[in-house]
Amino acid sequence: MTPNFFFRCINTDCGGEFDPQNRLYQCPKCGDLLDLEYDLQRLDAEEFRKKVRNRRSSNHPLDISGVWRFRELLPFQENDYHLAITLGEGNTPVLDAPNSAEYIGLSRLRVKHLGWNPTGSFKDHGMTTSITQACKLGVKAVACASTGNTSASMAAYSARAKLRGIVFIPEGHIAHGKLSQTMEFGAQTVQIEGNFDVAMRMVRELADTTDLYLLNSINPYRVEGQKTVIMELLDQLDWQVPDRIVLPGGNLGNTSSFGKGLMELKRIGLIEKVPRLTTIQASGASPLHSMLSSGRSTLQPVMEARTQATAIKIGSPVSWKKAVRALEFSDGWCDSVNEEEIANAKAVLGRDGLGCEPASATTVAGLRKMIGAPQDENQVTLHPDEDVIAILTGHQLKDAEYTEKYHLGNLDIQDSSSDEGVMYKFSNPPIRIPADREKIVDLLGL
Ligand code: F0G
Repeated sequence: MTPNFFFRCINTDCGGEFDPQNRLYQCPKCGDLLDLEYDLQRLDAEEFRKKVRNRRSSNHPLDISGVWRFRELLPFQENDYHLAITLGEGNTPVLDAPNSAEYIGLSRLRVKHLGWNPTGSFKDHGMTTSITQACKLGVKAVACASTGNTSASMAAYSARAKLRGIVFIPEGHIAHGKLSQTMEFGAQTVQIEGNFDVAMRMVRELADTTDLYLLNSINPYRVEGQKTVIMELLDQLDWQVPDRIVLPGGNLGNTSSFGKGLMELKRIGLIEKVPRLTTIQASGASPLHSMLSSGRSTLQPVMEARTQATAIKIGSPVSWKKAVRALEFSDGWCDSVNEEEIANAKAVLGRDGLGCEPASATTVAGLRKMIGAPQDENQVTLHPDEDVIAILTGHQLKDAEYTEKYHLGNLDIQDSSSDEGVMYKFSNPPIRIPADREKIVDLLGL
């Protein structure tokens, strides 16, 4: 059977089409990014909707995965399915976050916590498909540059696949939780002297000149797995499309993937309305926000990205063109928030019993910034009654050091823009007290 999918260049002037079994990361004709395209006409919307719902009650390993459950929209055929490397990724709930909603000024906020994935971040959605493709191609070694989560995920999935995994991380710029995962899962960890953008450049060069198979989100097989977050979300919402989906932005693979998922669902006829994708960057690492708010048509990298949300400390996002396409398609927007806004929003999510890593908290911080009257002409306004889903991308324990520092009041927030000097609005430090019953009762008012 000939596959019903192929690589296509995203540059419509080029439109190059290529065999999906080539090891391509960019168009061989013009150098632009590549999509995996499908013949979607074969798919009946109603049948698909029922099939994916029924699979939720099946114990088949592919049905248990919140990615492979949507396999008709993945670049694999039936005779590839036995190769699937899955850790039961996905299946993360959609939960109300009333405390965060009140903080933002929304009547209701729901979150989908992708940090509750097997390795604690959304990366597992795309890693299951790209590692499976690596197995299909028979590669010996896989590699990525990472701010930590991609490396932890790639390390776990390559361990399952018995593939050699090599990760390139910017020295001193990744959270300990992520580094420890990567080492434990057995990947070779190469610390590059330099930031993420330097590591990314290095690994791309290596993938072009050696046998390494590149597993960053520039690889279209990553995007395909990651797009199923949108499908799982809509299935969980009984296909009632929300007004807005908010997510953090770093290398912009996730924004690109969500956009692709929405485009395909619209083409199949599974949705009519398209939720507005709203990407939030940290202000010290916000090249997409700068580009859109200044009306430029090309992205100017930030030379030295700065933020303590290390997951999104990226100045030159590789997938920016796909992200722009996603925001245009969904009438969305990209905003930015400062360090103090991120830190306080994270603590607010904690009081919902959720918690997340700093990058994920940009969502709540961004929504709070957007609500009500715009502060400048470029700012998008959020209506208090909008139906909003915030995507939390990483687990709270990934960066426990940040959380501890926040609550102890010694997080080094560099770019506070608060006039009142209110930094740690929700800090909750431990109380030190001698082991004396009376004193404890007295202090705690028991
Ligand atoms: N949130 C978390 C927790 C992340 O780890 C990342 C990216 C993002 C958001 C941003 O997603 O890059 O698709 O825009 N982490 C990558 C990594 C870069 O190497 O782990 P994006």
